[in-house]
Amino acid sequence: MEKFIIEGGVRLGGEVTVSGAKNAALPILASTILAPGRHTIENLPMVSDIKVMRTLLPYIGAHISNGRALVVEIDEIKRPEAPYELVKTMRASSLVLGPLLARCGYAKVALPGGCTIGARPLNMHINALRAMGAEITLEHGYIEARAKRLEGQEILFDNPTVTGTENIMMAATLANGTTIIRNAAREPEVVDLTLYLKKMGAKIKGEGTDTIVIEGTERLSPSTHRIIPDRIEAGTFLIAAAATHGTVTVKGCIPEHLDALLLKLKEIGAAIEIMGDVIHINGPSKIKPTNITTLPYPGFPTDLQAQFMALLTMAEGTSIVTETIFENRFQHVPELVRMGADITVEGMTAVVKGAKKLVGTEVTATDLRASASLIIAALAAEGTTEVSGVYHIDRGYEKIEDKFSALGANIKRCMEE
Ligand code: EPU
Repeated sequence: MEKFIIEGGVRLGGEVTVSGAKNAALPILASTILAPGRHTIENLPMVSDIKVMRTLLPYIGAHISNGRALVVEIDEIKRPEAPYELVKTMRASSLVLGPLLARCGYAKVALPGGCTIGARPLNMHINALRAMGAEITLEHGYIEARAKRLEGQEILFDNPTVTGTENIMMAATLANGTTIIRNAAREPEVVDLTLYLKKMGAKIKGEGTDTIVIEGTERLSPSTHRIIPDRIEAGTFLIAAAATHGTVTVKGCIPEHLDALLLKLKEIGAAIEIMGDVIHINGPSKIKPTNITTLPYPGFPTDLQAQFMALLTMAEGTSIVTETIFENRFQHVPELVRMGADITVEGMTAVVKGAKKLVGTEVTATDLRASASLIIAALAAEGTTEVSGVYHIDRGYEKIEDKFSALGANIKRCMEE
């Protein structure tokens, strides 16, 4: 087990380049199942969740090359399955359900089980596939789905599920007839998947809106795609810059994907300049309080809530943070409190009384974004912080210690005794 040792109190400064988006790369890699032949996927982030997908695809029957630009070829589906070993390490393995069912009429995917941030069921994925004619059983911890050919259908999601929209969109590309997804997720990662599906020949309209229309086709052909930059990674660096009163240039991002965060950073007093794919932030000398409520895109992303809360612990006044997406996404709170923060949680709301000096201590990361929050708190704190459970951060951030070190941070990775 590894941990980070961070000496706080350094104002971050310099330039950092954003990697490819994990949450766009995962469904796009799953979509290669839909078409035999050579797919070339560029700008994959080197993070452990992508390694899991790079293990799952060969298990299913893919030949894959090494490197950042991945060539994937699945001419024969050998095992239309996602085994528990892989699904338990990464829930997004369930993204192969829709493509496998569409390509070979059968899929067996382990049920993910519990997750630290919330229950995260797959009922909306399953109900939508059933509506499209799939026979689905849930037994012995597995989803088994069968359909000769899925039938296009009108689907209404109770709430806009990101991977649900992606799974159903992929399944619908090879279905008989037209599928309409209402209350679809509008996240940029859903749009990036759609772009790749269209390059493969899929007929899709409405991506980026809450109604996506997919006209099924007989077959798709492989193509080449470059993954969009990771807005959550970019946002994490921007928040860290603000928390340390630093001056940082984040390169290679799509600023409009970060609109909600940029507005909130301005509210806390940061100066933001945008030039093409570059965002420059000048952190404020005094951080002002503000309120955030997480919402589906284009609202404030749940994946940046923990990091922004670390920043608010240093604001001069009280802020309210409301989490509406996941029922258990305040696990960073007790750890921030150990560092001296004044936060009380009631249900889905956290009251953050700011202007407290954070002080370094030992803290434990419980999930990917909680670990990013603790790193930000540690960078801004007085003294030394040891963050354990860093394997969580490696799931979604590429070489985070190298990128923070290049910004002047004093951070090193070492083995826990
Ligand atoms: N939900 C259901 N039933 C379903 C599906 C979802 O009740 O069948 C609920 C969830 O429990 C949650 C809400 O709907 O309360 C929204 O969940 P969603 O399905 O949108 O989440 P997801 O697709 O499982 C993706 C990202 C998450 C990100 C969320 C929300 C990927 C691989 N994962 O998860 O990313 O937090 O959307 O934006 O795209 C992360 O990167 O750290 C991460 C957790």
